[in-house]
Amino acid sequence: MGIGRETNATPRLIILLVPVLAFLSCAKQCNSKVLPRNQDHNQHGRGLTADANPTCNVDKVVDVMNFGAKADGKHDDVMAFMQAWQEVCKKSAQPAKLLVPEGTYMSSPVIFQGPCLSTQPVIVEVKGTILANEDLSAYDEDFWFLFEKINGVILTGGGTFDGRGASAWKYNDGGSNFPTMMAWQSIKMNDVDNGVVHDLCSVNSKFFHFHVTDSSNFTAYNLRITAPCDSPNTDGMHISSTCGVQVSNSVIATGDDCISVGPGVTNANIFGITCGPGHGISIGSLGKRDQEKDVCGVTFSNCTLNNTTNGVRIKTYASPIQIKASDITFQDITMNNVQNPIVIDQHYGSRKKKKGVRKPLVKISNVHYKNIRGTTPSNVPITLACSAAAPCDGIEFCDVDLDFVSDDLQSKKHPNTTFTACCTNAKTTFSGQNKVPICE
Ligand SMILES: *[C@@H]1O[C@H](CO)[C@@H](O)[C@H](O)[C@H]1NC(C)=O
Ligand SMILES: *[C@@H]1O[C@H](CO)[C@@H](O)[C@H](O)[C@H]1NC(C)=O
Ligand SMILES: *[C@@H]1O[C@H](CO)[C@@H](O)[C@H](O)[C@H]1NC(C)=O
Ligand SMILES: *[C@@H]1O[C@H](CO)[C@@H](O)[C@H](O)[C@H]1NC(C)=O
Ligand SMILES: *[C@@H]1O[C@H](CO)[C@@H](O)[C@H](O)[C@H]1NC(C)=O
Repeated sequence: MGIGRETNATPRLIILLVPVLAFLSCAKQCNSKVLPRNQDHNQHGRGLTADANPTCNVDKVVDVMNFGAKADGKHDDVMAFMQAWQEVCKKSAQPAKLLVPEGTYMSSPVIFQGPCLSTQPVIVEVKGTILANEDLSAYDEDFWFLFEKINGVILTGGGTFDGRGASAWKYNDGGSNFPTMMAWQSIKMNDVDNGVVHDLCSVNSKFFHFHVTDSSNFTAYNLRITAPCDSPNTDGMHISSTCGVQVSNSVIATGDDCISVGPGVTNANIFGITCGPGHGISIGSLGKRDQEKDVCGVTFSNCTLNNTTNGVRIKTYASPIQIKASDITFQDITMNNVQNPIVIDQHYGSRKKKKGVRKPLVKISNVHYKNIRGTTPSNVPITLACSAAAPCDGIEFCDVDLDFVSDDLQSKKHPNTTFTACCTNAKTTFSGQNKVPICE
């Protein structure tokens, strides 16, 4: 490590972000985001003035091949990536682009750190395939590519990030005790404002494919994210502590959640996602750590789930952490052969633990399930396992229509097609036509 990473804390100015607020009730958290001061031109408010298609007026192209990249898939091209980044970010005040041309690259962990000089977003265009170093001793932090302290970055190009996760999966039993040091996320965005990721593939991450955290106004679309269905913790995208999220039109098939929205996410709009196989779409896990903040204003819409273990799920730990998850909508969701279509689980991760039964205190309210259709092999399509200490309030069902489908693995001779609902401590309301039993 070293190149491109500043050890001195960058001076910061508190600037109020004034985003378009889709959910007024979540406005408070959203306005409190602290943006890094970006040298002497923060008054431009880069994200607000960014050109609709900034790739069209880039003045400077920095090709990694000019910085010693070999692109033979064997030689470690990490230095070429980091030096090219210095050039586009730290040495160019004009709009600049880091280009990874077609070809196969191999790289150890890379840090792309700002703040950058240009008032325009920095573009990273990956046309080639980048293979992760398989030598695990090359990783001393929890990422492969890190984007950090940047206001305005566009990662695109149609190329592929191949995390070559098989080298790491064997050390992960899928449990939550997995050492964070080894939780190598393929692409991590930490403290990135106005970040955009589009038209890229990510395959076989060692841990999460994408992790966006402590950021604001994040946009992603046209992504293809894949990993084997039995690979541990290969979530497609995990987002936490971020205000203003739009993720759309992507296909995700992994061994874990397709998209998970963690603590501290406000105003997130996620739509047009095809998910599966994998563990489905989720909010959580919440209530694991002390510093967690509320989740507010999250909408998942127009998503299709194929062969996933869960459909739409909210999962919270049985812990004393008193945060809230509210104003959540799952709308226009198609489920094909989804094992547990609708789940609220306030006892997540606590069933295996024997001693010290704890009260789940994460408060879940105003959750809307609208127009949820499709098939499930389960007799219990809806499970609301809420706690007596923090009951779920305002859980609305509108037009939930699921059919039983016989699981191929089970005998089709005497299928039990009776549906029941399983709910504890949940206050529900109904509208439209619900064709599954829901606890009253
Ligand atoms: C959010 O980011 C997008 C893409 O960079 C930009 O077009 C938009 O203006 C930003 N919105 C705000 C409120 O900053
Ligand atoms: C819904 O998602 C599909 C698949 O991603 C997409 O083709 C379609 O345009 C979306 N429809 C709407 C209304 O967003
Ligand atoms: C689910 O998986 C089965 C077996 O792999 C496959 O035949 C089927 O087409 C899949 N269903 C969907 C909706 O993808
Ligand atoms: C999911 O299932 C739908 C309906 O069967 C199908 O149109 C779509 O292609 C499937 N997607 C994937 C990724 O399997
Ligand atoms: C069918 O499933 C329902 C829900 O799990 C259960 O209550 C019922 O006893 C089952 N019936 C048979 C015949 O197994």
